[in-house]
Amino acid sequence: MLNRTRSYSLVYIISAFAAITGLLFGYDTGVISGAILFIRKDFHLNSVMTGITVSAVLLGAFIGSAISGKMTDIIGRRKALVIVALIFLIGTLMTMIAPNDPFLIVGRTILGMAIGIGSFTAPLYLAEIAPTKIRGFLVSLNQLAITLGIICAYVIDYLFAKQGDWRWMLGFGVFPALFLFIGTFFLPESPRWMVLKGFLREAEETLKNIRATEDVTRELTEIKQSIQAKRCSWRMLFSKQLRPIMYISLGLSFFQQMTGINTIIYYAPTILQQAGFSEATTAILATLAIGIFNVIFTIVALPLIDIWGRRPLLLLGLGGMFISLTAQSVAFYFPELAYMRWLTVGSMIFYIACFAMSLGPIMWLVISEIFPLEIRGLGISVAVSSCWAFNMVVALTLLTLIDSFGISGTFWVYAALCVLGVLFVYFLVPETKGCSLEQIENNLRAGRAPRELGVTLRKEKLVRVFNAMEVEAETASAE
Ligand code: BGC
Repeated sequence: MLNRTRSYSLVYIISAFAAITGLLFGYDTGVISGAILFIRKDFHLNSVMTGITVSAVLLGAFIGSAISGKMTDIIGRRKALVIVALIFLIGTLMTMIAPNDPFLIVGRTILGMAIGIGSFTAPLYLAEIAPTKIRGFLVSLNQLAITLGIICAYVIDYLFAKQGDWRWMLGFGVFPALFLFIGTFFLPESPRWMVLKGFLREAEETLKNIRATEDVTRELTEIKQSIQAKRCSWRMLFSKQLRPIMYISLGLSFFQQMTGINTIIYYAPTILQQAGFSEATTAILATLAIGIFNVIFTIVALPLIDIWGRRPLLLLGLGGMFISLTAQSVAFYFPELAYMRWLTVGSMIFYIACFAMSLGPIMWLVISEIFPLEIRGLGISVAVSSCWAFNMVVALTLLTLIDSFGISGTFWVYAALCVLGVLFVYFLVPETKGCSLEQIENNLRAGRAPRELGVTLRKEKLVRVFNAMEVEAETASAE
């Protein structure tokens, strides 16, 4: 018991450090929402250039996450995190001193690479050092760190908004980046990666240390066995057997992004200004409230994901997002009515709460659960980079969409995508609650339908007993 408490606390401390990557992800993607109001003015940007400045980070993140699968295999997870911290530092300093918009765009792209590599490496590292029992919780902790990073960004935006000092808004990220950089020197390398590279003695030592026990033979053997199976290729990823998993993970990243979350995260102050909160500071303050709800409802979701399950939360969340997007669309359709701006803030808050309890954490969780071990790294890398690509599409098209269809019409598009999202989840996404990763893998091998990949042996037995009872009852009544 004592050992377990000790081992859990050590894992929590290590995870907290690794999760700073999530904090920086949230900070650097969220900070632009307030900063862009002033950058736009300083550099005289039109809609297209504003879109590119906001989205440069996403292009970098796409590149970063696409190369991270190979990179973390070659240099290891810990060194990848050191590089992430270094790139964060360089990118942040560049954006802080940017003399013009092209320089700023390059700086934001470099920053994005750190975010992309980090968004792949941190959950992978967390999953690899976590004891099985708390792995789901630790992976979702990364999403909590993202939301905390976003809220830090909003606070900093608010504090510097009076002076319109966007350079410090962007530059503040240097502090967590430094903290991460120092922290990475104390992080252990992932024992799984060490086994992969043949450093068996070191892997054993690390495991003993982080599990606070001498008895790590079983875990070490399991890791060795899984490594033996780890011969994977791109072709395998798109094989007939794995195709359902690709659909599920690409679909989840698609709907996480294309239902418009980042129109709120990146552009909330801009939207709120258009809704009638004309002062930049008031708009940023209202955005802060949105950030706080994002954190609160992510915390609410953490235990519910394992109690209610993934599917009910996804369906409820998408339903709620549909309602709030429709409300926002209505609010913008009648801009002359004074209370409509309150409907806008209210529905934005409701939207963020629904997202935080559903697609926010669950997309990251499910993509880390459904890939078979031998293909997990590559599979997650494809899912994460496509998530960044979809994110980029939304950010790049938003202002242009607003210019062509107006805000009201644009929100209708996202609302319609929520409806498609509900259908997608209902027909394709499996309930993985309480199902071991091995069982999911077995279900996949057995050729089960995508929605049934999370069926557990217990559930299966219950269905069989139930069917038998039905047959019995039918025979009895026939007699
Ligand atoms: C998404 C981000 C989003 C954030 C908001 C993450 O899960 O991937 O695109 O900005 O949640 O909390």
